Formats: sequence, C-alpha cells, structure tokens
Amino acid sequence: MSDSVLLVGGGGREHAIARALADAELYACASNRNPGIASIAADFETLDETDASSVVEYAESVDASLAVIGPEAALQAGVVDALEDAGIYAFGPRQADARIETDKAFQREFMAEHDITGTPAFATFEARDPAAAYVESVDGDVAVKPRGLTGGKGVRVTGDQLSKPEAAAYIRESDYEEWVIEERLVGEEFTVQAFVANGDVRVTPAVQDHKRAYEGDEGPNTGGMGSYSDARFALPFMTDAEYDAAVDIIEETVDALEDYRGILYGQFMLTTEGPKVVEFNARFGDPEAMNTLPILETDFLDVLRAARDGEPLPDLAFAAQATVCKYAVPAGYPTDPEAGARVALDEASVGDGLLFYASVDERDDSIFTTTSRSFAVVGVADTIAAAEDIAADALSDVDEGFHVRHDIGTDELVQSRIEHMAELRGE
Ligand code: AMP
Ligand code: GLY
Repeated sequence: MSDSVLLVGGGGREHAIARALADAELYACASNRNPGIASIAADFETLDETDASSVVEYAESVDASLAVIGPEAALQAGVVDALEDAGIYAFGPRQADARIETDKAFQREFMAEHDITGTPAFATFEARDPAAAYVESVDGDVAVKPRGLTGGKGVRVTGDQLSKPEAAAYIRESDYEEWVIEERLVGEEFTVQAFVANGDVRVTPAVQDHKRAYEGDEGPNTGGMGSYSDARFALPFMTDAEYDAAVDIIEETVDALEDYRGILYGQFMLTTEGPKVVEFNARFGDPEAMNTLPILETDFLDVLRAARDGEPLPDLAFAAQATVCKYAVPAGYPTDPEAGARVALDEASVGDGLLFYASVDERDDSIFTTTSRSFAVVGVADTIAAAEDIAADALSDVDEGFHVRHDIGTDELVQSRIEHMAELRGE
C-alpha cells in the first residue's frame, strides 16, 4: 500500500526532510509557506504547527498514514500524541518523552537518575534569586540555562560569553523563572543524531554546528549559523573511539528512556575526559539535518515504515562525502533582525550547492525573509575543503541584506578546532 506522509514544520531542517522524502506522496504544513517544501509536496497547508488539532485535521484531510515532526515546539505541544490518538503514526517522541529536550531540569535529573555517562554536575532552581545566588557562590565557571525552550538563545556560559556576576545579573533580570546551572564543559562541541524506534538505534555521522553569530565564534548565540561533517563518521578533531563513546551515551540514554521514538540528537562536548553531554534534543538539528540527510543513501521512507510497523530499523548507508552548510540570515539577526527582505536566490543560482529555504515566507509569487534564519546552502564533496568551496561559491551572489559566517568549514577554522583539542590534551 502506498503511504501518504505528512511533514510538520517549515524550516531548513524540514526542507531537508522533504528532499529525503521526495519520492513519497508528501503533504506539508507549517506556519510559514516554505517554497522549497511546497515545490516538493503534493500540497502545503499554512497553519499553526503547535496547534495539535489543526495538524490532525489536516493529516486526516490528506489521509496521512505516517507523519514526521520537524520542530521541537510541535513535539512540546503534543502533536505526536494527538496524531497517535487519531490513528496516525508520527515519527517523533510523545510530549512526555520530548521533555528530554523541552525541560532541561527533567533532562539533567533523568540523566543523573540513570547514571548516564558524561552527565555534567548541575543544580536546578525554581526561582531566579536562589539560582543567581548559587552562580555567585559556586566554584568554577558555569552554564546557566532557562528550564524550557528558548530557540537556542537562552543559555549563557561564564568564562566564555560573560563573567559570573554578569551571569547572576542576567538571571535576575530575565523573564525566565526556573533555571538549570551546570558545570562549564571545555572542549570542542559536536552533534550525533540517531534514528530511534522499536528499541533500535541507527546513528549518523558527527556534525559540528556554529552557534555564535559572527566569524571567529564572536557575538550572541543563534539557532546555528552553519555546520560541517567529514567523509567519515568522526570529525577531524576527534578519534573514532571518541565518536564511538558518544554513540554509547546515546544508546545508554535510549535504553533508559525505554519507549522513545524519533530522532535523538546528542550535543556533546569533547573534553579531555571524553565526550560529555551538553544537551539532548528530540528532533533533527537545524542545520545538522542538512548535513546528514543529503548523504543518506537509505530510503528515509523505509526507515519510517519499519518504525511504524514495529520492525527492526534498516541499517543506514551514507555516502562517504564531507558536507558544509552555511546559513544566510537577515541583517541584525539574532538580536535585531530585519524581516521582509526579498529573497532572489533560487536553485538555479547556487551552482553545485544544494539550496534549503528556511524561515522565509512565499507570498504573491515572491519570497520574503522573516526574523529568523532565511536559507542555507550545502556543499557535498570528497573533502571538507571542497565542500566549503561549493558552499562559498553558492553564496557569492547573496546581497547585502543578509549575513553569512564565511569562516564555517574553511581549512583555517577546522585546523583551529584540531589545534584547540591538541592544546587541551597537552600535545
Ligand atoms: P543549549 O541551548 O543547551 O544547546 O546550549 C546552547 C549552547 O550553550 C551550547 O551549544 C553550548 O555551546 C553552550 N553550553 C550549554 N551547556 C554548556 C555547558 N555545560 N558547558 C559549556 N557550554 C555549554
Ligand atoms: N543546531 C542546533 C539545534 O538544532 O538545536
């Protein structure tokens, strides 16, 4: 029987998912009309993707027999649970399991309770004042995190972005009530995403994202400005054994979660003591999905069907290719983004690169920016350097209303990661 697949979400990550499902009968819904997804899908409905009943109504209207949920906000809103109640299998965790991402206090307490390898020291607080006082009194640098979702923009790290008194002031002046304060981890960050269902875990190559807005890792945190992966599973600054140690942590966590399904995304800090967990996410990374899905040779639809049908997940095959992804974001992003600029780029103008539309909106035959990341280009090649060349060429015509971190994936930046790890290891 053929399946109708519903895709929920309208960002770059979801455009990458749509491409991976281009041979399926695909339907899509999101709050913005993403022209890349709309060009692949049989139909595109504009709706609030956190409104579970609207999503279910649309899923039923297109006879969906499978669904894939991209954004964390939809998971938090219980879209998976609502689809399941309507008899539609959704690849994504139920609301309670998605707390591994959506509730950072739950995440750390769960990890501690199950003695998950690589859990940093942490403390949780239900009010600002005791959280701030703790930051002032505890020894060593800390990461301060609002308990709930903040689009990657709520965390502050002392000794890196600000001093401890500034972090305490940040907490006291913030609108967030509840906090997690944890040991600052030092090293190089990387992501490993895994497909999870029926107790099976199928991992994907490691990716390094770049959260800071400006070149040289300066400026405020963002949702992620771009990312790269190597032609092997590990990254240039890590050993295969270190990659495997991260995979072990993901497997340990899936075992502890028991009935988890969907993507489990591990954000790790490679420290001199091995990988430690910066956080877990309950969905593909954005941008990381754009590194991973273009080189996935296994049919994503086969993975979804196996997950739904209670079968073992197929082994995943990946092309042995490196990838470099660079986002173009509105000028002023993330603090003061200018929305409403026209996006002139299309697939014909990015050369050998792949174009992924993100938080843009298609109206009246034109594509306009919103206040979030606009579009990304991805180069795929034998080496990171060659992939970077493709991505850089693809962006050569991007005009002034946009900002790009041109340093992502360059030899210079990759080499600085290798040197940073060597220095920490005392080599
Ligand atoms: P999150 O929203 O949890 O992804 O955190 C955003 C960013 O803050 C991460 O990608 C890290 O760069 C940084 N971060 C979070 N937790 C820690 C930690 N314990 N130590 C050092 N950096 C951290
Ligand atoms: N790239 C970071 C995220 O998707 O959360």
